[in-house]
Amino acid sequence: MSFETILYSAIVLLFIFLVFLFITASLIVRRSKQSSVNLQTVVVTQENPYVTMTSRSSKMEIPVILPKKLNMADNDHKHLPPHNPPPPVPHHHQPNTHSTHHSSATISSVTSSLNTTTSKKPAVAAPPAPTLNKTVESASSGRVMQLNGHVGFDSLPHQLVKKAVEAGFQFNLMCVGETGMGKTTLIESLFNMKLDFEPCNHELKTVELRTKTYDVAEGGIRVKLRLVETAGFGDQLDKDKSAKVIVDYLESQFETYLQEELKPRRMLQYFDDSRIHACLYFISPTGHGLKALDLVTLRELAKRVNVIPVIAKSDTTCKDELLRFKAKILSELKAQKIEIYSFPTDDETVSSTNQAMNTAVPFAVVGSCDFVKKENGQMVRARQYPWGIVEVENEQHCDFVKLREALLRTNVDEMRQRTHESLYENYRRDRLRQMKIGDGETGPKIIEKLAQKHREYQDEFSRRELSLREEFQKKLDSTEADMRKVEEALAAREREVQDEHEREAKKLDAEIRQLTEERMKLMAKVSKKLRK
Ligand code: GTP
Ligand code: MG
Repeated sequence: MSFETILYSAIVLLFIFLVFLFITASLIVRRSKQSSVNLQTVVVTQENPYVTMTSRSSKMEIPVILPKKLNMADNDHKHLPPHNPPPPVPHHHQPNTHSTHHSSATISSVTSSLNTTTSKKPAVAAPPAPTLNKTVESASSGRVMQLNGHVGFDSLPHQLVKKAVEAGFQFNLMCVGETGMGKTTLIESLFNMKLDFEPCNHELKTVELRTKTYDVAEGGIRVKLRLVETAGFGDQLDKDKSAKVIVDYLESQFETYLQEELKPRRMLQYFDDSRIHACLYFISPTGHGLKALDLVTLRELAKRVNVIPVIAKSDTTCKDELLRFKAKILSELKAQKIEIYSFPTDDETVSSTNQAMNTAVPFAVVGSCDFVKKENGQMVRARQYPWGIVEVENEQHCDFVKLREALLRTNVDEMRQRTHESLYENYRRDRLRQMKIGDGETGPKIIEKLAQKHREYQDEFSRRELSLREEFQKKLDSTEADMRKVEEALAAREREVQDEHEREAKKLDAEIRQLTEERMKLMAKVSKKLRK
């Protein structure tokens, strides 16, 4: 075998070896990339239970949407915690949308029905989704815990909503107003159903409270609706008695609840809670402000129930008059220190809606049991007059739509919550004191502890604020000093440039002068020569 042949075979073998090495290396690199994607970050976000993966090598987020499960093979699925359906995000109601409203309002009610004794603001939205290296701070102990992956707490709100939807809801509405003021008609218009309340005459010896209970369902949400209407209110000579009957009724509902609460084996989850959550108070459309009966009754009611005043049969009053009447009613209520229910504006999702609602109080309403055909053929709930029609659901004609929005769509849960946590709580506290049941040791101690914590937080807050202010001032001073230096340098440079420019100008002037003189001399010489 010649030397060339050996050399040739060695080169071929070396080439084959190099190709093999290259293939092996690329396979290893690809595998390591895949494993880094799978193991790196599986972020399940709160709003979106889908999976977002982050590639470690590229440091870029690659959103990968996997509809049901994490990025694992089917046979791996059984090792995963059960998939959590997306926790329902509270969809706050926007005016003039219909089908979604009810479910949103009711869903926000859900958690409060479960938390009636706990938190003020039920959070339907899931807590922040756990991500890798996320720091969780425990407010009570101050311990910091690292969550190294998806644990599953974010399904908690969903569990609460499911449970509450299964249990259904209770909403108790009371209508207080003089006989024939349009109470039944308005409720029929609000709930869009026929009610079997008997009209009453003016001969009742005392005020009666008539109650009807209905099971209504909308969008899969069941609501037990209790409607209470006064009969004979204001028809007796002794007006104070009218208010007393209603107050007694409201308190007896609180008392029934309290008695159930005090039982050793209380069954509050099965208890028929008849505490009134909202009270529509019908004001006669006289245009002359509130009557003594109204003031007496409203003062007592406002302490025990969420009172929403409405101007009844507002189609009998003209627009300007209504505005003046509303202002008069509000000023009288203010003068008498009567606190009617104010729709809460602290929740930013409903604050603008509720602000608008608050400005419309007392709502000027129109009710009707009749449907009238409009010129365009559309059937609308309206009252027909020889000169035209007054549409119940037309915002140009009355505040019915606003009332429905505020009462049944945006604030049901808030009113239920206020009834339980504030109005009932006041009643309960007074009754327990009457029964000589004290707060014991725990109450004051907890309050003292909370106050201490509050003070500590405030001190910490002021310390931080001070240090931040100082830091900011320092930064500001140093930035200002830097700026001044730069300004001075710029000014010096500007002066230099100006001096240089002046020097140049002078030099040029001198040169021009010299050249002019030379030219003159030359011209003189030339003219001399020419003369010769
Ligand atoms: P009682 O239960 O008997 O005290 O009466 P109520 O307050 O329930 O009043 P109801 O709804 O029965 O209405 C009494 C009358 O007022 C009926 O003839 C209604 O058609 C009329 N009415 C109801 N609402 C309105 C309204 O908004 N405007 C006008 N103009 N009339 C109304
Ligand atoms: Mg009636």
